[in-house]
Amino acid sequence: MQMTTSELRTAFLEYFRQQDHQIVSSSSLVPHNDPTLLFTNAGMNQFKDLFLGLEQRAYNRATSSQRCVRAGGKHNDLENVGYTARHHTFFEMLGNFSFGDYFKQDAIRFAWEFLTEVVKLPKDKLWVTVYATDDEAFDLWTKKMGVPEERMVRIGDNKGGQYQSDNFWTMGDTGPCGPCSEIFYDHGEHIWGGPPGSPEEDGDRYIEIWNLVFMQFNRHADGTMEPLPKPSVDTGMGLERIATILQGVHSNYEIDLFQALIKASAVAVGTDDLANKSLHVIADHIRSCSFLIADGVMPSNEGRGYVLRRIIRRAVRHGRKLGAEQSFFYTLVGALCEQMADAYPELNTQRVIIEKVLRLEEEQFARTLGRGLQLLEDAISELGDAKVLPGEVVFKLYDTYGFPADLTADVLRDRELSIDEDGFEVLMKQQRVRAKEASNFGVGYSKAIKIEGSTDFTGYEHLAEPAKVTALFKEGESVSALIAGEEGAIVLDKTPFYGESGGQVGDAGVIKLAEGLFVVKDTQKAGNGVLHLGTLELGTLEVGESVTAAVDSHRRQAIALNHSVTHLMHASLRKLLGEHVIQKGSLVGPDRLRFDFSHLEAVNAAELREIEDMVNRDIRANHAVSTQLMDLDTAKGAGAMALFGEKYDDEVRVVSMGDASTELCGGTHVQRTGDIGLFKIVSESGIAAGIRRIEAVTGDGALAYLHQLNTELAHTAGLVKGDLFSVADKVKQNLERSRQLEKEVEQLKAKLTAQAGTALLEQVIEINGTKVLVADLDGVDGKSLRGSLDDLKVKLQSGIVVLATVNEGKVSLIAGVTKDLTAKVKAGELVNLVAQQVGGKGGGRPDMAQAGGTEPAQLPSALASVGPWLTERL
Ligand code: SER
Repeated sequence: MQMTTSELRTAFLEYFRQQDHQIVSSSSLVPHNDPTLLFTNAGMNQFKDLFLGLEQRAYNRATSSQRCVRAGGKHNDLENVGYTARHHTFFEMLGNFSFGDYFKQDAIRFAWEFLTEVVKLPKDKLWVTVYATDDEAFDLWTKKMGVPEERMVRIGDNKGGQYQSDNFWTMGDTGPCGPCSEIFYDHGEHIWGGPPGSPEEDGDRYIEIWNLVFMQFNRHADGTMEPLPKPSVDTGMGLERIATILQGVHSNYEIDLFQALIKASAVAVGTDDLANKSLHVIADHIRSCSFLIADGVMPSNEGRGYVLRRIIRRAVRHGRKLGAEQSFFYTLVGALCEQMADAYPELNTQRVIIEKVLRLEEEQFARTLGRGLQLLEDAISELGDAKVLPGEVVFKLYDTYGFPADLTADVLRDRELSIDEDGFEVLMKQQRVRAKEASNFGVGYSKAIKIEGSTDFTGYEHLAEPAKVTALFKEGESVSALIAGEEGAIVLDKTPFYGESGGQVGDAGVIKLAEGLFVVKDTQKAGNGVLHLGTLELGTLEVGESVTAAVDSHRRQAIALNHSVTHLMHASLRKLLGEHVIQKGSLVGPDRLRFDFSHLEAVNAAELREIEDMVNRDIRANHAVSTQLMDLDTAKGAGAMALFGEKYDDEVRVVSMGDASTELCGGTHVQRTGDIGLFKIVSESGIAAGIRRIEAVTGDGALAYLHQLNTELAHTAGLVKGDLFSVADKVKQNLERSRQLEKEVEQLKAKLTAQAGTALLEQVIEINGTKVLVADLDGVDGKSLRGSLDDLKVKLQSGIVVLATVNEGKVSLIAGVTKDLTAKVKAGELVNLVAQQVGGKGGGRPDMAQAGGTEPAQLPSALASVGPWLTERL
């Protein structure tokens, strides 16, 4: 059955919808709540907690087409992508899921029905594997579906055994898992390869298309398997693989979607060699890169951002190899949207930012690519017969030219060479250690302190609280007492002090002893405890003592203003600039707030003003600020903004401000937005490619800022003798006046020089009938010598002139010879005669030459030598 990729995706979801499955949209490539994953790599990721029974939803059957990225892990095979028929950085996984509802029987029935009746694959081309001891699945396939036993294969959990195959699927080192059953398609005898479980199984003849996992356990970190609350089903079918079969082709790159991208790539780089593997690389990479950026990943040198950077740079390198001379990669986003935006509308909404990020990254890399490749060529020619490029070269390419190691490997693969990975890693490690040492200064010792037990935080409701001292630290070491004058850290059983987190700085305040006082400068979290950092000003303090912890309420309130306004500003930025605005960093202090977010251009003055107006309107609307605890999905359902890649607990705190903002947040806030009083942006700047920073002030801080502006302006007004509102006009008038004066000064100077020129004519002497003028114009600007010379030449009509001037210890010289005399005397020789004697040299045309010198003291004698020299030549 012939189907486009798009039709196939729809047919799959539709089939399962008819079987009472809820169609669920693909989740982000950045796993929302799972620190164990770099990228979403399977359809089941977003349902992990449903399998584990930690979460309930209105449905217990679901189906999805999930965008997945598999690149950047330890054994990532970026290097192979594009060269094989089925490796991709990005792919789509079609799946159906049962959360404690149906199990093996229906999972098998649905899969068989879809393959053989909906898309009508020939039954005799299908092979099935089951887990070695799974008789139930074996019988269901053979007896109910009628798969002949000769096309059934049992595969054991024999990892590390003769063949690496294993029919037990686990999400990772921990998480839901279970035995599985895989469906294979036989592409035919003309292709090399053997059925699953055979020694030739790695060939391309038998291709796995669908994996049905019978989820039964939760694997813990210690290896134990805990049965799931209810047996469940997780299946995954590679969309590109099944499309390949249905379109009667063999390589994934031959399907409609890839052909369209390959053609667009060929046009973009200017080649008509459609079979070139570099086009496969580009067509593959534009998908992962665009989707990663759409999901909020930005190219960087770490983590997810570095994987993205590596993929972009690899695509760029292949494009340049095919002849692209200009940035081309970003121009492919349009073709990708045409192919995929129907299924993934986020591609359209994020298109502008995707294009810009790709263009910037390509431009940045293009600046060093050529030189890096040259260095690599030189290094290759020095290799001689060796086959491995030394780690130092790989590192230099990385460090100086921005070549990820796999990119270097990719260049080398064409020459059947490889890189010294271990050598490279050693150098990378050394660099990391250096970087760490450099950034270690000033790191608070709270990071190193291990606290047993936990501190209850009571600071949402209270600002002062009686508490018990549970531990004391001095210089990072646990101690039993502190004495007056000592600095240290106190841990309490409960505290109203907020430990720095989520960008909000730690509280300050005092801890009162029965007879004494500890002044808290900062509060930090350590494990489940809270450290109050400061100095014992009075008394002695022992573990076990009862104290009263009191937060500096003014400071806390100032912080709350800045924190609440951060939420309002975040919401306004997204409303005004677009949904691509994503929080990248935040610092909320008592005196100001700093907010970093993704956006590619400077936010202009008009936009900043609009943001200020929007936020101040929300302040005046005086929305009540409410906080609620709820589960993560309910929160997201209510539209709460969650941050990508953040780990949230099952129960989250949602802070809402009327209809203006809803965000997940653990911080402390005002009661009503009106408390903020006033919001004023003080600066906007770029801090990295695609990341902007806004700093702003609120309340008293905003007022103080306006006062300061006012004072500065009043001072300026005083200087120009105006008032606040005429300052600009006054300054403008003053500027015009000084420009006018400058002009007049110029004119006067020119006049003076001309007059001096006329006076000079009186100094003209004659040598053998030729008029000669040699003069030191002492103090005249060197630049005006030329004008004077031209003038004098005109006035003399025929003659020779040498002029000199000294300015700030430097001699400037000029010599002129009228055309009728240049046969006898060359201006260049003449000027050099003088220049040599004042420590310089010069040159020019036969009729005019200039020079400089550094020894003004020699000038009179040098000028005096001109007469005799000319006498010999005239
Ligand atoms: N989670 C399984 C896989 O990734 C089936 O979807 O293969």
